[in-house]
Amino acid sequence: MEPIVKMTNISKLFSGNQVLKQVSFEIVPGEIHALMGENGAGKSTLMKILTGIYSKDEGDILVNGSLVDYKDPKEAEQDGISVIHQELNIIPNLTVAENMFLGKEISYSKTGILNTKAMRNETKRHLERLGVKLNPDKNAGSLSVGQQQMVEIAKALATDTKVLVMDEPTAALTDREIETLFGVMRDLKNQGVAIVYISHRMEEIFQMCDRITVLRDGSYVGTENIKETDLNQIVKMMVGRELGERFPERQVKIGEERLRVEGLSNTGLFEDVSFSVKQGEVLGVAGLMGAGRSEIFETLFGARHKTGGRIFVDEKEVKIKKPYDAKKAGIGFVTEDRKSEGLVLELSVKKNLALPNLKPLSNWGVMSAKAEKSMAEDFINKLRIKTHHADLQVKSLSGGNQQKVVIGKWVGINPKILILDEPTRGVDIGAKKEIYQIINELAAQGVAIVMISSELPEVLGMSDRIMVIHEGRVARILDKAEANQENIMQAATGGYKHVKTNGQ
Ligand SMILES: Nc1ncnc2c1ncn2[C@@H]1O[C@H](COP(=O)(O)OP(=O)(O)OP(=O)(O)O)[C@@H](O)[C@H]1O
Ligand SMILES: [Mg+2]
Repeated sequence: MEPIVKMTNISKLFSGNQVLKQVSFEIVPGEIHALMGENGAGKSTLMKILTGIYSKDEGDILVNGSLVDYKDPKEAEQDGISVIHQELNIIPNLTVAENMFLGKEISYSKTGILNTKAMRNETKRHLERLGVKLNPDKNAGSLSVGQQQMVEIAKALATDTKVLVMDEPTAALTDREIETLFGVMRDLKNQGVAIVYISHRMEEIFQMCDRITVLRDGSYVGTENIKETDLNQIVKMMVGRELGERFPERQVKIGEERLRVEGLSNTGLFEDVSFSVKQGEVLGVAGLMGAGRSEIFETLFGARHKTGGRIFVDEKEVKIKKPYDAKKAGIGFVTEDRKSEGLVLELSVKKNLALPNLKPLSNWGVMSAKAEKSMAEDFINKLRIKTHHADLQVKSLSGGNQQKVVIGKWVGINPKILILDEPTRGVDIGAKKEIYQIINELAAQGVAIVMISSELPEVLGMSDRIMVIHEGRVARILDKAEANQENIMQAATGGYKHVKTNGQ
């Protein structure tokens, strides 16, 4: 079949850095084509060139056999090419419906007045197709990251699409939403839509895609039919070497109780949450989107006000009213939303790494530039953050590398307890393993780790115990030995009635 999009020998230079080198990529109608590669390989950049967000330095783009050179995404959209971007583009102070129809408002043809009723109804209809019930008049800023992602997806589907680029659409979603989304993707595929699918979740790729194209360091490595390849081959193409075990083994002696939470409540969000984490232990936290996982830990951290409950660190009760109190008690928190909470995008990698670490680096209140630089470089090496130098703005890093900066921020303060909310979201398979190794090292140093994750293989692969949250309550706490995909999902969907959890 003739490709609907054919990109040949695309090259791109960003401030002296060759991020794409003679890359070719094509896609035919009715296929789901995975675009894979490590963080910073150039996937998003290639797609931004296709859709006119960036201009290319070299190469040709054919759409339906004709040469195109889109000046902006609107032109691409007119040819039926739409994108769901990796970074959310929701405008927080507009409503859901206003976001959906931004730039393509529906108005009454005679008067030109905006037809808000039609837009509201259309918004509802597109969201319902994705199984999402949301009030179109709600402020988009008040939605969870997952809900915002759903609005973005609905927005892309609202146009008459022939080519749909999905840049990590599932990173913020959990299993149930992902299944719905996959259903929609299958429908689109059957209607002949070509889908470019970017994801670091290997299981998804093998479940959904027909072909895979791999990029490495800005170069094209190859294209494989999914039926004729396997995970090992793809990983090898991506990282250029064998990766070995996905979840590195942890040999840690679990020690005394580090953190104990008794009856923590934030009425309306969650109730009566009790658990404990020991030195060197990794407690995985699973649950569906909206179950209240992040809210529990944001409250514990003092970023939200609790309505009840007590918190103990090393057997001593601590009063946490604001994040500062939590930090003083030795608690670190890697938030799920790196854009709004984790990072200051305008600042350099160095400054971001130094932000929570001001104390140890400053001498009578003056931060030593030298100390700041050497610490930043240390982290860049340790976490293998792909950046040309420590002074680059964080926003110019690829998504996965931004995530590593967020983690680096907190590792430096030597917390007693480290809460990681979706620590490997958007991170490639090699870097994921590096993050797991960092988690293991921290555990070996006696840090108690809480890892909230929507990726079940990761929760199962990394946790000593797993706490499953269902509708704002602890549904079950499972030991590593008894935990599996089925009993976690059962508890997460409310199928397991286990009322009394005393955190043991
Ligand atoms: N606007 C920009 N200015 C400078 N460099 C950039 C810019 N956008 C991307 N880069 C660089 O280009 C390279 C490729 O980035 P890109 O975002 O395309 O990677 P990716 O494959 O999408 O990675 P990820 O899986 O982390 O999303 C990276 O080294 C990145 O730092
Ligand atoms: Mg990307």
